[in-house]
Amino acid sequence: MNVYDSEQIARSLESVGYRMTSSVKAADMILVNTCAIREKAEQKVFSFLGRLGDMKKVRPELIIAVGGCVAQQEGRKILERAPYIDLVFGTHAVSRVPEMIKRIESESCRIVDVEVSEIISEIEFPADDRKQEKSGTFVTIMQGCDNYCTYCVVPYVRGREMSRNPENIIREIRNLVATGVREITLLGQNVNSYGIKEELCSFPELLAQIAEIEGLLRIRFTTSHPKDLSENLMLAFKNLDKLCRHIHLPVQSGSNRILKKMNRKYTREQYLERIEKLRGICPDIAMTSDMIVGFPGETRADFEETLNLMKTVEYDGLFAFQYSDRPNAAAARFPEKISEKEKRERLLELLELQEYFTLKKNKAMIGSVQEILVDGMSKRGAGSRRQGTGSRGQGESVNENDVPNKNDVQWMGRTSGNKVVNFTQSDECDTDTLFVGKVIPVRIEEAFSHSLRGKPLTITELSGLKGDKT
Ligand code: 5AD
Ligand code: SF4
Repeated sequence: MNVYDSEQIARSLESVGYRMTSSVKAADMILVNTCAIREKAEQKVFSFLGRLGDMKKVRPELIIAVGGCVAQQEGRKILERAPYIDLVFGTHAVSRVPEMIKRIESESCRIVDVEVSEIISEIEFPADDRKQEKSGTFVTIMQGCDNYCTYCVVPYVRGREMSRNPENIIREIRNLVATGVREITLLGQNVNSYGIKEELCSFPELLAQIAEIEGLLRIRFTTSHPKDLSENLMLAFKNLDKLCRHIHLPVQSGSNRILKKMNRKYTREQYLERIEKLRGICPDIAMTSDMIVGFPGETRADFEETLNLMKTVEYDGLFAFQYSDRPNAAAARFPEKISEKEKRERLLELLELQEYFTLKKNKAMIGSVQEILVDGMSKRGAGSRRQGTGSRGQGESVNENDVPNKNDVQWMGRTSGNKVVNFTQSDECDTDTLFVGKVIPVRIEEAFSHSLRGKPLTITELSGLKGDKT
């Protein structure tokens, strides 16, 4: 979500003469977009701001702005704590950033804008005809959250849940597709409740409309709240070819006692029932989740229920976090806090179990042919002309002027289930068809815990496949 917001802000600042730079040292303005979801993220913000303060001593004309959830939460206190900051803007002030920057330039003033609005703010951009270098991007369809999970700061820093109009969403996606984007990830704290409050269309209806957009190849979305996972949404995975076979369905805990304290509004049994139903409708769907360990009062027995749930579901991947108190969130006031040591140990135990399932799932794909949307290319470590210089590692992008040897190039893309696949060109492959934004069939040959490696089908294999069909 923050990546999307940052991109929107960067684009809106073009109207007042700013362009993105990849060098912090060369920047005339540094804008820090912050996240307050967990304590660690917030601590990082303040240590980074400290370093910017040192830069401002050397270059007093540098404009420093802080936005996002930490800015919303701390407001004016940030200016008091860090007097070198020029602008603090909250999560509802994004569309006002360009005019505030202009004022700072002309009046050398300092501004705080953390006003919360009751209507969703749309930033209107002129149609963009620049070609995108990436195959996929994000589009926010709603903001805020009304769920008030007791550990979560989001309702306090992002405000009430509000959905964007379908027309605006569709227009934005059409514009993106015109610039070369092929995959869209729809963003919202709980996309399943899209449009309900405002009586717009339902989320599955929105998906169906987006799927009609010509040139768009793939649709993803995140995040779904298990309590609102409807049968119609489950059916969309079967009926809409463009909807990727992956769902991120955060469960947070496997213990009913803890789920209740978290105010998640579903039981372990209801969650498992929904997963079973979804797998009945779409058997090859990949599943990922979020998990919190060490929520106040979580006993060893509760934690073991979480491990047990993981064994029942066998997730393709999992994001796991140690619980941390967040300002305003109800659980900050709950007794029976778990020690940092215990939380760390539980996290490691959980991650070790997940590693086993991730690898198991990945290995099960060996030998299969997967449709891969090509994301980009990177230079292979081994065999690279620059090997040993230490100047470039695996995964770094290749400069367009530095045309690499064909066999040095490693491509990267994702399966419909969102698994990263690396592959190289080979002489027998139809290499003309390989480029960013294209979907190609790749046979999976090796599996690791965070990625897969494969080979694009050869021309002979491809014609065999086509022959099979006719
Ligand atoms: N402590 C730890 N993890 C948290 N998350 C949200 N709030 C907290 C917190 N206070 C996690 C949840 C959520 C993900 C985005 O961050 O798992 O799904
Ligand atoms: Fe936070 Fe719960 Fe809303 Fe997700 S659904 S953003 S965890 S309050």
